[in-house]
Amino acid sequence: MESSLSTKHLLGIKYITSEDIRLIFETARQFKEVINRPIKKVPSLRDITIANLFFENSTRTKLSFELAEKRLSADVINFSAAASSVKKGETLLDTVNNILSMKVDMLVMRHPAPGAPMFLSQHIDASIVNAGDGTHEHPTQALLDGYSMNEKLGDLEGKKILIVGDIKHSRVALSNIFCLQKLGATVRVCGPPTLLPKHIKELGVEVSYNIRDSLNWCDVANILRIQLERQDVKYIPSLREYSQYFGINKALLDSLDKEIVIMHPGPMNRGVEITSDVADSEHSIILQQVENGVAIRMAVLFLLAGNRS
Ligand code: CP
Repeated sequence: MESSLSTKHLLGIKYITSEDIRLIFETARQFKEVINRPIKKVPSLRDITIANLFFENSTRTKLSFELAEKRLSADVINFSAAASSVKKGETLLDTVNNILSMKVDMLVMRHPAPGAPMFLSQHIDASIVNAGDGTHEHPTQALLDGYSMNEKLGDLEGKKILIVGDIKHSRVALSNIFCLQKLGATVRVCGPPTLLPKHIKELGVEVSYNIRDSLNWCDVANILRIQLERQDVKYIPSLREYSQYFGINKALLDSLDKEIVIMHPGPMNRGVEITSDVADSEHSIILQQVENGVAIRMAVLFLLAGNRS
């Protein structure tokens, strides 16, 4: 196995190799042991300062990165666009250059514009981790999802992974597709035709509009939220109708020929894409995903810090 990543930034899963992914998983496995010890901290990033730049709301990703940085002993500063001089008209590049002039070494950024981290990477020297850019990619979510599946099922080569719901607006779906395919899994997407991108088959995924058939096919179902905040027009008649045709409930799972693993990246809309008796069932690994997010983000930050020029 390689001992360093092939990249200085984590802009998307599209831009890293399967060896990178396996190295991140192996490193995360070691950090997961660390964070389950009574003393959860290591000095690995003691000399590093990291800025978390969140231009869009977040609960899991923001807290998970901050905790990962603190577990690695990095110095951490947090920036929230809503309470910043961005509101006075400052550009993204000016904002970031001002932050970097305070001797910040690495950036973690969530931004509503697809490509914003890629743009920055072309103008600054510091390493950037994409914490979600619009409808483009959310690489650490895909890594923690892949890692959680790997923990549950072993090697993902040949495993059948279903992604259900609003694929069109989902950065999680795109990053998951790239990640799972690089690990040898077969990916199927299922949802209403209006919520599946027109050219999705070009990514090499299977496409289905039949949720029962798809659940019977898969080993894992990763269920996505309907992203109403990114929908400029109505893609579905109503949430109630979506829930009736594509919502995952216990009666549906009980009627299958097999047991499957249930995942959701969060935030969940209980009663819409997933019912509580599924989200809180023994088949669900939703909270394990969140737990693994800290170890995955520690691994990503640690490995990128080792690649800084
Ligand atoms: N999964 C995820 O990105 O959640 P947050 O928006 O809360 O960070």
